[in-house]
Amino acid sequence: MRFFATCAKGTEGALRRELVALGLGRVRGDRGGVAFEGPMEAGLRGCLHARTAMRMLLELGRFPAPTADALYEGVRALDWEPWIELRTTLAVEATVSSSAITHSGFAALKVKDAIVDALRERHGARPDVDPKDPDVRVVLHLARGEAALSLDLAGSPLHRRGYRAAMTEAPLKETLAAAVLLLGGVDPERPFVDPMAGSGTLAIEHALRARRIAPGLGRAFGFQRWPGYRGTIQSAWDRMREEARAEALPRAPAPILARDGHPKAILALRRNVEAAGLAADVVIQQADARDLEPLADVEPGAIVSNPPYGERLGGAGEGASPAEARVQEKKLGGFYRGLAEMLARHHGWTAVLLSGNPLLARAIPLRPTIDHRLWNGPIEAHLLTYRIP
Ligand SMILES: C[S@@+](CC[C@H](N)C(=O)[O-])C[C@H]1O[C@@H](n2cnc3c(N)ncnc32)[C@H](O)[C@@H]1O
Repeated sequence: MRFFATCAKGTEGALRRELVALGLGRVRGDRGGVAFEGPMEAGLRGCLHARTAMRMLLELGRFPAPTADALYEGVRALDWEPWIELRTTLAVEATVSSSAITHSGFAALKVKDAIVDALRERHGARPDVDPKDPDVRVVLHLARGEAALSLDLAGSPLHRRGYRAAMTEAPLKETLAAAVLLLGGVDPERPFVDPMAGSGTLAIEHALRARRIAPGLGRAFGFQRWPGYRGTIQSAWDRMREEARAEALPRAPAPILARDGHPKAILALRRNVEAAGLAADVVIQQADARDLEPLADVEPGAIVSNPPYGERLGGAGEGASPAEARVQEKKLGGFYRGLAEMLARHHGWTAVLLSGNPLLARAIPLRPTIDHRLWNGPIEAHLLTYRIP
């Protein structure tokens, strides 16, 4: 079987490394994701263990689809029997970049009609569509005249781990936070501090990794509602989950500190850390990031953070006058210099910062050992790693 795991743009390298480490076969990076091959178990393993994957797709077929009719015929010719029964509800999602079919809603409708007609021809009745909460999610990707039809194994996206009880402004997606930790080379066995933790995504993802808790252990998956789930898929899944549970450590091997300056963020942090079952591993403090001192009596570790960018948090915002924007930029520059001074006190530590604002790198008088471009949703950001002398 052929699978395609999607991820945030710029994080393909992290996902590829994860899938290779899981022992999956023929792993090949592509734009926006990574392909791999293997039996159904390989896809399940990816769902349970890949921290940076957004979706896990099982590819059912690929064919030329230069026109809407060709798309319909190609979908109708695929074997839907093993995946969709009359009682199964389905939804179709399409992404298109094609000159012949430009509207994704229209393409999705064509795919749905073709599946429904194929099943009606065989059984004399048709399955129902449920766009909100379907049993089976069919995904069409149409580009350069070629259609790829897949099923979404995960159902709801994989960043939904099940621990986000509370939100703050501008939280990172869990999968992007995991990619920051992997791409930034953060060692899960050394001390960790996020001085601007917001809702705690980086600290929680670090703690899960440090305790070797599989990211998919706390949630349900789409494939559990597939008609063929009971039997061999279910027993493989149950075994895999049991093995994953047995691998988890009872406590994180090194201190993990999550701080933020805002009381609202502290409340969200506490709720999320508790929901993730990590209250004994993550210490939470309310304090100004610029006042952080190196932790006493521990070896140097990593300061990992996603400081305010100015664009989403505390930004001058759209419609600000040039004078207002200059004031905002000056304030942010001063704040970043304060952060740079705090970092400079952490001799021997590593700083891993995700920032969408070039002013941050300018405020730090060191050359980054890693400068990696990635996308936080639509915002271009840089992952910067510094070794503090
Ligand atoms: C971009 S958000 C971090 C989001 C976080 N990574 C998450 O996933 O939720 C930046 C955070 O910095 C915090 N912050 C801003 N100024 C601060 C300061 N001077 N000291 C400590 N925290 C500060 C804000 O309260 C906010 O939660």
